[in-house]
Amino acid sequence: MKNRKPMNELAVALNGTLAEGGCVVPSLLSEKGARAFFPSHGILGQSAEAKGSSINATIGTAFEDDGTPLCLECVEELVNLPSQAFLYAPSSGNKDLRAQWGELLSKKNPTLAGQAHSLPVATHALTHALYIAGQLFLDRGDKLILPDLYWDNYELLFEEGAGAIFTTFPTFVRGHFNVKGLAKKLVAPGEKKVLLLNFPNNPTGYTPTEEEADAIQAAVLQAAEAGKKIVAIIDDAYFGLVYEKGVFRESIFAKLASLHSNVLAVKLDGATKEDYVWGLRVGFITFGMKGLSKAQFQALEQKAAGLVRATISSASNIGQQVLLKAYTDPRYAGQKAEKFATLEARYKKIRKIFRAHREYRESFTPMPFNSGYFMCVKPNGVDAEALRRQLIERHQTGTIMLQGLLRLAYSSVPLDKLDALFANIDAAVRELKARP
Ligand SMILES: Cc1ncc(COP(=O)(O)O)c(C=O)c1O
Repeated sequence: MKNRKPMNELAVALNGTLAEGGCVVPSLLSEKGARAFFPSHGILGQSAEAKGSSINATIGTAFEDDGTPLCLECVEELVNLPSQAFLYAPSSGNKDLRAQWGELLSKKNPTLAGQAHSLPVATHALTHALYIAGQLFLDRGDKLILPDLYWDNYELLFEEGAGAIFTTFPTFVRGHFNVKGLAKKLVAPGEKKVLLLNFPNNPTGYTPTEEEADAIQAAVLQAAEAGKKIVAIIDDAYFGLVYEKGVFRESIFAKLASLHSNVLAVKLDGATKEDYVWGLRVGFITFGMKGLSKAQFQALEQKAAGLVRATISSASNIGQQVLLKAYTDPRYAGQKAEKFATLEARYKKIRKIFRAHREYRESFTPMPFNSGYFMCVKPNGVDAEALRRQLIERHQTGTIMLQGLLRLAYSSVPLDKLDALFANIDAAVRELKARP
């Protein structure tokens, strides 16, 4: 049923800002996205105005008589942070962390330096950021363009959550990312196009080469020049984990953030996989588009923050405070490089195993991979689900079956067990083939 309540005047004002100068963003928003606003005049706004008052009876947190946050000492002792970390973070995120993450974006993506984009808005990690993007840009029945190998949670987030219809293209053609398949989808009939890209990819562990990244950019530009209005949602969960030369090391966001006034790039990222803090739950959503003013970026931030407020109120303050401390810790870069090296060594070992065991080719074909946490193999001549079962039952080896492939999370397999992992897959395929 349609929402019959008139649109809130704050949403009307944000939409007005977004429409300035003939900007196409209003036509990219879903109905929920158009209605989204941050309730800056409500409890939060009134609390902000009261900040600094000698008596402050506004917000629903509790303070001791001396003005410090009222905390249970046994809880406080568990967390090595000032007790302020137990208070709420703002819905858009801790101001300093947002600024810090914004700066890190340009450091990690040199191409982005100098390109205008919004400040990141903090979310309850990437899943939540993806959900917000779905709510902002997809109405029931809208198409979502994506490669056919994707993280399975996209179905809950976008098909079930937003009511979108997936329109996929084969991820690979002759061992490379299928840019032509993507380009074809972008120029298909219909003016609004919502695209979802995830590199390094789950499940394939693939990131486009530098040439492929250029070709993706050219395909999006061509569609935009032909009049398509495009939202490019970019899931950067595994950002930075690239193990081969010639593979694009920046986010595709850097290629799209100021490409064309018909292209809104939406970057979803966070600490989860990049900084190895899966349970901490801090992510970000950042917008980039050619020609947007600061006020227009802020309007998009307000819409995202409104959806944060509506879903989780605010992301974990403890999580945000932990990251803020980590990013300014002089040991951060060195330790991150060490963890990268651990994963890279496993990647290299897998390459070595494939070079040493040509006989494995009779049992399975590795899919293209060069980055991230995963790789996939395609079983030769046996059913992937039967193989998965055989591996569990006979070889104590757990894998994930999806779309006829086995996904192997080598991120969680110790280096010295990788030989056995692939030997077991080979053995299990041969056993299944030998069955009468
Ligand atoms: C591609 C992709 N995006 C997003 C996520 C979710 O990340 P988070 O744990 O930060 O919600 C995952 C987690 O597996 C993922 O593989």
